[in-house]
Amino acid sequence: MEKYNKTYSVNKNIKPSQILSLIWKNFLSNSKIIDLGCGQGNDSLFLVKNGFLVTAIDSSSVAINQMKVKKDELKLNNLELICDDITNFNIEKDKYQVIICRNVLNFLDKNKALEILNDFKDNIQKDSYIIIEVFTKNDPSFISNNKFVSYFDEQELLNLFSDYEIIYYLENIILDPGHFGFSSPHKHGVARIIAQK
Ligand SMILES: C[S@@+](CC[C@H](N)C(=O)[O-])C[C@H]1O[C@@H](n2cnc3c(N)ncnc32)[C@H](O)[C@@H]1O
Repeated sequence: MEKYNKTYSVNKNIKPSQILSLIWKNFLSNSKIIDLGCGQGNDSLFLVKNGFLVTAIDSSSVAINQMKVKKDELKLNNLELICDDITNFNIEKDKYQVIICRNVLNFLDKNKALEILNDFKDNIQKDSYIIIEVFTKNDPSFISNNKFVSYFDEQELLNLFSDYEIIYYLENIILDPGHFGFSSPHKHGVARIIAQK
């Protein structure tokens, strides 16, 4: 993930994602939360500052080291950092009350991504939340340059969680105003879900 190492070397922006802002107030105060493919940790840091116990994992050493600096500076004892590939990580049964995996599964081949989603479903505690964001085949890159390893079909995420309570689902083509590494406005085909076991 050399690309992300470069991006994270200079981007210091910290704020929670839109999807997290919809639900985090519903989390029980002692929730253990895992953020897989946390990037620079906007969501993780936001949750830690709000008192939750968070494990954040990413394969980018630059991203994890930046978070470590913040963790040490702010003495964030409720933040655990792991620099690793999420495919090496199994969710411990009933340990987490919230699983977050945003914009990461597209970097894996589809079978692996589905295996990971099933691991989430099998091992999260009852009543807990799973928050997922993926890019769909409506993403312009699907036709133009196949930027991601895999893409999700329309409704696929929704079908995968048909046995869960769907708290929120959005599937659309959104306008991204631009971000570090791609500063001009561009479109994305996305699916976003908050599902409760
Ligand atoms: C598009 S960013 C998303 C970051 C964050 N989840 C967010 O939505 O802001 C993708 C992140 O996934 C990480 N990543 C990609 N493949 C990974 C893998 N197999 N294991 C762990 N992290 C991975 C990258 O290093 C990068 O930080």
